[in-house]
Amino acid sequence: MDSFNQKLAVVTGGGSGMGRELVRQLAAEGCSVATCDVNAQSIAETVSIAVAGAPSGTRVTGHLCDVSDEEQVLRFRDEVVARHDSDHVDLVFNNAGIAGGGSFVTDPRATWERTFGVDWWGVYYCTRAFLSLLIKSDDSILVNTSSINGFWASLGPGIPHTAYSTAKFAVKGFSEALIEDLRLHAPHVKVAVVMPGHVGTDIVANSQRVHDDVDPADLSDEDLEGRRADLERAGVLPEGASTDDIRQLTIDLQLMVSEFGKDFRDNAPLSADGAAEIILEGVRSGKWRILVGDDAKLLDEQVRASPETAYDYTGVGVAVAGSIQPD
Ligand SMILES: NC(=O)c1ccc[n+]([C@@H]2O[C@H](COP(=O)([O-])OP(=O)(O)OC[C@H]3O[C@@H](n4cnc5c(N)ncnc54)[C@H](O)[C@@H]3O)[C@@H](O)[C@H]2O)c1
Repeated sequence: MDSFNQKLAVVTGGGSGMGRELVRQLAAEGCSVATCDVNAQSIAETVSIAVAGAPSGTRVTGHLCDVSDEEQVLRFRDEVVARHDSDHVDLVFNNAGIAGGGSFVTDPRATWERTFGVDWWGVYYCTRAFLSLLIKSDDSILVNTSSINGFWASLGPGIPHTAYSTAKFAVKGFSEALIEDLRLHAPHVKVAVVMPGHVGTDIVANSQRVHDDVDPADLSDEDLEGRRADLERAGVLPEGASTDDIRQLTIDLQLMVSEFGKDFRDNAPLSADGAAEIILEGVRSGKWRILVGDDAKLLDEQVRASPETAYDYTGVGVAVAGSIQPD
């Protein structure tokens, strides 16, 4: 696919970061786009930014949809068909994603499953929902965003990263397995897997909003006590702590994550618009594996060259961990 002009693309998680940039850059090339997000305000902003930079006749629509909920995904698919008056789509970018559920041992099960639900089931449901529309196009592509954590299940020493990595490995495996399946059963549909390294976006803040969107001041004593067991299991709450101690710790943890999120966004080697350019260039040139960023390329080489030492942090992953981990 050497041009996106006059095509119709679907982009999930278009309210922020790489998704917003994909929508903006596609629309600027005259590609109509249907994009969804869980955040109504951010998706409306994306639509107005994209429309402002798009040639006339380019239709950009925003939809509220949680990709981890199949009913909502099917409704989103029906809205796309109706609002774009089309019986097919040409590109689907499964981009929506959140972080969280780092530890399988100490994090709440609900957090783990919410992360896995968005990052894996979201890709699965959207692919199920949109595949028949991709097949109806003459020349189409499914673009699944995995991560460097789709081939390296770590952020470096001291930070477990289980739910996200498990889901991103699944997205990569699914995408690679589809290559032969599509070749056999729908050869005009292509698939690509995107593996970004560290990209400066608000993913930490957006993920925090999804997992824990409460002001600790509004939590009842009962709510706070409900957190005791998880905090104790994580080893961050001292024995005999009071309910007020739990409230204070909740405030401190939220602040810490928020500071880390700003650092993650502001000190990245690559911006969201630069990442989207690389993704779209990869799609244009027909690549099926799109590594985004020099850190991703280096890590890919390191893990392939020395899989046995991938988690020793003596060479493999050192640069990535240095860029991502808080000081
Ligand atoms: N930023 C990075 O360093 C990085 C690295 C590797 C991979 N990725 C992946 O790239 C993709 C985009 O991430 P980003 O960094 O641009 O993040 P982002 O937070 O800036 O954008 C993600 C968007 O997805 C939306 N979203 C979250 N849950 C959703 C759901 N259930 N349904 C629909 N929309 C939902 C969010 O509201 C947000 O607008 C994600 O899949 C992420 O895992 C990011």
